[in-house]
Amino acid sequence: MSEFLIPKEGLRPAPEVPQPNIFPMEWRTETPKLAEIYERAKREGFNPALINWSGLQPEAYSDDEKVAIMYWWALLSNFDSSGPAVFARAMIRAWESHEESPVRRCFFSITRDEQNHEECCERVIMKLVPDGPLGFAPRSELQRVALNNIGWLYHNGGRYWSGYNRAVDKYPLSILFTSFMLGEVASSTLFHGMSRATNHPVFREIFSSIGRDEARHLQICMTLLEKSWPGLSDEDRTFVTKQLRAGFVFLSMVLWEPPGQFWDLPDYFLHNHRILLRIAREAGLGVLTFDQQADNWRLAIARVRRIVEKWGIAFPAIPELDIDGVDVGDITADDIIPVF
Ligand SMILES: [Fe+2]
Ligand SMILES: [Fe+2]
Repeated sequence: MSEFLIPKEGLRPAPEVPQPNIFPMEWRTETPKLAEIYERAKREGFNPALINWSGLQPEAYSDDEKVAIMYWWALLSNFDSSGPAVFARAMIRAWESHEESPVRRCFFSITRDEQNHEECCERVIMKLVPDGPLGFAPRSELQRVALNNIGWLYHNGGRYWSGYNRAVDKYPLSILFTSFMLGEVASSTLFHGMSRATNHPVFREIFSSIGRDEARHLQICMTLLEKSWPGLSDEDRTFVTKQLRAGFVFLSMVLWEPPGQFWDLPDYFLHNHRILLRIAREAGLGVLTFDQQADNWRLAIARVRRIVEKWGIAFPAIPELDIDGVDVGDITADDIIPVF
């Protein structure tokens, strides 16, 4: 006699869970390298609360310098502070499509890291301009101009988010991964460059910590691509080519200067933007010059180009940097998936 209850007609199988769904739970490992990277993420991740914030003294800067430096962090937050929500959504996609467990965990770790990057934006901004980025009362022309530009940046961030939400469920995850890659290459280059250029130890610590995370994100994207590229169709490859151009268009705002696609900005924006960045640079933040940024971009793009061409994916034309390639047409808000 069994102590279990087993009906005469036998056990009834549970109904199948309609998909996409995060259930049923399962843990598969197909790519041990991703499991290793995830373990490394646990060890390497930093705690923004432990940065020596008392070393960042607002009194060291004039009011306008504080706002100009804050302006750059608000600019960065257009990318890094959308990171947690953007990757969280991609992470949910990875669960719903039953990706192997290390893929889900790596996406979780990127979401976690981006939260730390966001926290850095928050902490610097609150320290320098406590009611920033948008709630402070401007007391000079520079401050009025910065406030107005930040409003325009977030207007475009909002357009990106709406487009991303429409796109994220439309494409296979492998395509999303590839779309992320340019952002990860570009951001790891940016932060390493800035950690060398800044004259402030607190900024240096932040930049090198974030740069280390971004380099790991890049490894995750590359490992995912290695796993998924053989399954890409011609249509997928064409889409990736377009995404690489979309990445250039979107990320140039923080990495260089925005080209004439996607960005909806008043005609005075860029002129004022350049002045604000110059003042932040002269105050020692570590913002690279126009030419240094262009060189950085070329370097990052050349790296990505080598990788994707190896996998039979054509590279888009970037005439802004004298890079030839495929013409992918206009880039609109619905085309932009990349993040930092
Ligand atoms: Fe980031
Ligand atoms: Fe990242």
